[in-house]
Amino acid sequence: MSDLEAIYTQLPEDLHTLPQPKSDKELEEMNYRVRHWMSNIPGSIKIGSKEHRQMVCQMFRETFNPYRPTFMDWPKLTDQEIDRLKSLPIWDIAVQTEGKARLRMAAYVKEIVDPEWADAIARNAWEENRHKEVLSDLVRFYGIPLASESPYSVPKDPEWAYLVTGFSECWDSFYAFGLFAIAEKSGFFTKELIETFEPVMQEECRHILLFANWLAWHRANLPWIKRILFELKVIAVHAFLVYERIGLIKTMDAEGEEHFQDNNFTINGVAELGNEKTTLADFLRLCLSEDDRRFSGYDRRLLRPETAPFLTKMALWLLPKKLLNKQLVG
Ligand SMILES: [Fe+2]
Ligand SMILES: [Fe+2]
Repeated sequence: MSDLEAIYTQLPEDLHTLPQPKSDKELEEMNYRVRHWMSNIPGSIKIGSKEHRQMVCQMFRETFNPYRPTFMDWPKLTDQEIDRLKSLPIWDIAVQTEGKARLRMAAYVKEIVDPEWADAIARNAWEENRHKEVLSDLVRFYGIPLASESPYSVPKDPEWAYLVTGFSECWDSFYAFGLFAIAEKSGFFTKELIETFEPVMQEECRHILLFANWLAWHRANLPWIKRILFELKVIAVHAFLVYERIGLIKTMDAEGEEHFQDNNFTINGVAELGNEKTTLADFLRLCLSEDDRRFSGYDRRLLRPETAPFLTKMALWLLPKKLLNKQLVG
C-alpha cells in the first residue's frame, strides 16, 4: 500500500469498533450530532489563531458520521426508477471525482507541517474514499454501467491540487444542495433513496466548512510575499476551473476509450431532476436556502464558504427578469 493510499484508507480510529446507532432514536440523535456543533471555547475568536484552528479541527472530528458503506441499505426501486438513475450523465465523473479528491487531499496532507490540520485533512481524504465506495456500491446495486477507471495520478503540486478540489467542492456542493432538494420534491429520487444518500450530502457541507476555514487560517498565517504568491495561485485555480467547466469534459477509461460526462451537471441537472415549473430564480433561491439550512447548526464563529452564495445573490439581483423567470423544466 502506498503512503497516500494509507492516508485515505485508514482512520486513526477503527471504524468497525465505533458505536453504530442501534435504534431509530439513536439514529436520530446521531443525525442531530453530525449537523449541530458548538465549540466550548468562549467568546469571539481571531481568524488565523490557534483557537480558530483548534475549533475547526475539533468540529470536523466530532461531527463525524460513522456509517459503513457496506451497511448502506439501498432501497428497492422499480425498473422505471432505475432507468431514470441510469439516464443521468454523472456516474463516471462522480466516482472519478471522489477518486481524485481522496488522492489530492492525501497528497496535501504529506506537505502539512501542522499535526492538527494534517489530521483533519487526512480525515477528509478518508471520507472522500468512503464516498467513492458508497457511489461504487450504489452503481453496482442498481446495475448502472460504469467506465473502467484509469489509474489516478499523484499531483505534482499538491497545494494546487488541494485548492482545485476545495474550490470545486464549494461550487458543486452549493448547487448540489439545491438539486438534491429539487429531486426530492419532484420525486425523481424516492424518499428512501434520498434518506440513504443524505449523509454524503451533509458530509460535503462539512468538507467545505473545513476548506473555507483552512483557507482563511492559511491566508492569515502567510508572510506577505508568500501571501501574494498564494493569491495569484488562487486566481489561477479559478481560471482553471472556469476552463474545465466549459462544456462537456472527456474522460478516458482504462482501455483508452473516450467517455463524455457532464461536468456541469450541478447546474444543468435541474432540467433532468425536476418536474415542476421551476424557474432559474426558484432554483437559485432554493440553493441559497438549502445552503443556509445545511450550515445553520454549526458554530456561527466558523466561516462559511461565501463566493458561490454571494455571486448567486448578485445573479438574482442583476440578471434580467426575463431570464430569471425562465422555466428550467415543465
Ligand atoms: Fe466527496
Ligand atoms: Fe468532499
